[in-house]
Amino acid sequence: MAQRENVHNSVLECIGNTPIVRLNDVASGLESQLFAKLEFMNPGGSVKDRIANFIVEQAESRGEIEPGGTIVEATSGNTGLGLAMAAVLKGYQSVFVMPDKQSMEKVQALRAFGAKVVVTPTAVEPEDPRSYYSVSRRLVEETPNSFYANQYHNPDNPETHYQQTGPEIWRQMAENLDVFIAGMGTGGTLTGVGRYLKEVNPNIQVVGVDPIGSIYYDLFKTGRMSEAYSYSVEGIGEDFLPSTMDLEVLDDVVRVTDRECYLTTRDLVRNEGIFCGGSSGAAVCGALKWLRLNDRPGQQALVLLPDTGRQYLGKIFNDDWMVENGYLESIPGLGTVRELLSRDGHKPVLSAHVGQTVSEVAGLMREHGVSQVPLMSEDGVVGILTEGKVLSRLLDHPGAASDAVDDLAESSYCTVDFNTTVAVLSAMFGRAKMALVLDKGSVVNVITRIDLIDHISKVNQ
Ligand SMILES: Cc1ncc(COP(=O)(O)O)c(C=O)c1O
Repeated sequence: MAQRENVHNSVLECIGNTPIVRLNDVASGLESQLFAKLEFMNPGGSVKDRIANFIVEQAESRGEIEPGGTIVEATSGNTGLGLAMAAVLKGYQSVFVMPDKQSMEKVQALRAFGAKVVVTPTAVEPEDPRSYYSVSRRLVEETPNSFYANQYHNPDNPETHYQQTGPEIWRQMAENLDVFIAGMGTGGTLTGVGRYLKEVNPNIQVVGVDPIGSIYYDLFKTGRMSEAYSYSVEGIGEDFLPSTMDLEVLDDVVRVTDRECYLTTRDLVRNEGIFCGGSSGAAVCGALKWLRLNDRPGQQALVLLPDTGRQYLGKIFNDDWMVENGYLESIPGLGTVRELLSRDGHKPVLSAHVGQTVSEVAGLMREHGVSQVPLMSEDGVVGILTEGKVLSRLLDHPGAASDAVDDLAESSYCTVDFNTTVAVLSAMFGRAKMALVLDKGSVVNVITRIDLIDHISKVNQ
């Protein structure tokens, strides 16, 4: 009788044995070969399925969690998903504490498994009672029969990778590997995989990738604990040293900016067809930086891609978010405000002044066929006046025609200059009704949404 293939008793058995693929386009120009281990192909969508399942198994074997108990964790999402999945299958409750910078999709995914999620502020010290570390500790103390997975200090986190991921990689690569590169979060991946690989071949280089703003790079290079500052890439970088991170295992650390991480993530999707998240972009970006400095023919390098791109649709894969946050400068071809204005010709700036009456401004709008004008005072822009506001004032208060327009001014405008890209301008139009073009502090032109539509349609003709 034929044997069934790849058929499992539960989804937990599908964890691990993730594929490795060669990166062709993004690694072009290198003498080394760069391979990526697709950890987002785990059933929960990330590398963290591995540690979640192993940590719960170990806790069970030590009697640290009893049937019907509650698993608690401070997590940026992926470990939570793995634990929530294990909890469903093993009959536990789960409660997760997450910092507020994490994407909403991650919170929703945890809730989909029936887990409880507590969101805590990012901008507080780890010792602060509101921090996600403190809140999770308190939850454990207050919840009977609870188990704290504690990925930042649980030795079973690196142990998972030492026992499973490391040997898996070594086997898959047919024992031919020179460099292993991964992002630095709890350090579980680098410590466990790195330790294993060093044991089988001490010449393998183990390289960590750290986002600028995290403490790891300085700590590794100088031994100094620098002050952490904010960065937006999720899942990697820390503001303290978790005991799951053994810096001794590392040969080098490479730094990456948020922008580099996100642009590389987008390259991985568009040029390699690999739909991964921001920390994967970070790891690949770091790998490329390191390999460019240490390239040699035939060198075999492997980078680990921790999670899927699906959780970042509203951020990394959203052009407006990328532009608004300064990660994407321009949509090629749309040019700058200067080009938009030169295409449309230079319109005289029409504006109203504080103290003018509602009927005067209504007359101005009618005469010039415009539906909004900036309201100016001696000191500059006060706001914008829209046809809608003027009309409703006249309808609501029939005697208002002779009132001053001053209190009708709205703040739904943005300011740009000639060099602002049209991509940034269009992102601003998500909220603003009108853009005021400033030159040396004065309003020299105005752009409305219809001007933008006109420009984009002409460019695309
Ligand atoms: C998306 C993502 N990437 C990378 C990592 C880092 O892996 P590790 O914690 O093993 O260092 C994490 C861990 O939190 C993560 O969630």
